[in-house]
Amino acid sequence: MLPKILIARAIFPEVIAKLAQHFEVTTNQDDVLWSQPELIVKLAGMQGVFTTGGERIDATLLAACPQLRICANMAVGYNNFDLDAMSAAGVLGTNAPDVLTDTTADLGFALLMATARRMAEAERFLRAGLWSGWRFDSFIGAEIHGSTLGILGMGRIGQGLARRGAHGFGMKVIYHNRSRLDAAIEADCRASYVGKEELLRSADHLVLVLPYSAAAHHAIGALELAQMKPTATLVNIARGGIVDDAALAQALRKRTIAAAGLDVFEGEPKVHPDLLTLPNVVLTPHIGSATLPTRLAMANLAADNLIGYLVHKKPLTPLNPAVLSA
Ligand code: DGY
Repeated sequence: MLPKILIARAIFPEVIAKLAQHFEVTTNQDDVLWSQPELIVKLAGMQGVFTTGGERIDATLLAACPQLRICANMAVGYNNFDLDAMSAAGVLGTNAPDVLTDTTADLGFALLMATARRMAEAERFLRAGLWSGWRFDSFIGAEIHGSTLGILGMGRIGQGLARRGAHGFGMKVIYHNRSRLDAAIEADCRASYVGKEELLRSADHLVLVLPYSAAAHHAIGALELAQMKPTATLVNIARGGIVDDAALAQALRKRTIAAAGLDVFEGEPKVHPDLLTLPNVVLTPHIGSATLPTRLAMANLAADNLIGYLVHKKPLTPLNPAVLSA
């Protein structure tokens, strides 16, 4: 008998076909957003689940699904996993690192540029038929080349942003991270390590790329926003909850910072209503990794983790590898 797996969201048919060579597969091609109790019902008898980052895997679910052995996330972030509870239950978690690094860094840079140069606001103005001709002072934005790029969270995506900024736009790059990078990586990224306060005070453009954790909740709130330059832009491509969106909306309204570009939101897909009314924020719906080759690579990596573990006992990107030797 083939092991049974559940694919919790709609996904590429070719990835389903690959999984169907190894498993009895239950799909959700109608892309119904199941509540956790509904997911638990769907997981009855399943050894594996293909998740996409929004499905909460915690002690409650694990207790109700004792046959579950692996949860494979099609995302590099895995804040939907309670890894301690998974390890305690002997359930392996896997994520999808590396394959989305450059694509997400590209989007981060695009959002930085659209925000600093007021592109969404200018486009709305033009589409509304308000453009009567060139003016010396219309849509004056912030300089990108030669400015100071601050990066909070200097993992692979942060490093990708630093390279783009330093090598492509001649930016001075400063970063803050839990631990300082090796000198060779710093040199390659042309990035200097600074404390968080200095990062906030000195960055012309601050990009957030740190993983979400309880400790990172509201890492950027009213206090931090108050330390930023009034001309600064803030870009969040990390996770909702890292920024206090209500405090950000207030800072944008009062112009204590100039503008923000957000790809992720607290409680998404809901967006704080105040953000929707402000002109100086560019909003995109969590599309950091959204190119066809990258989304396919992410889905294939999640599928290969399921096959690797349940068929060959060798997952590619385990998050809690101690489960393998237990
Ligand atoms: C990730 O991989 O963590 C991206 O945010 C897509 O969910």
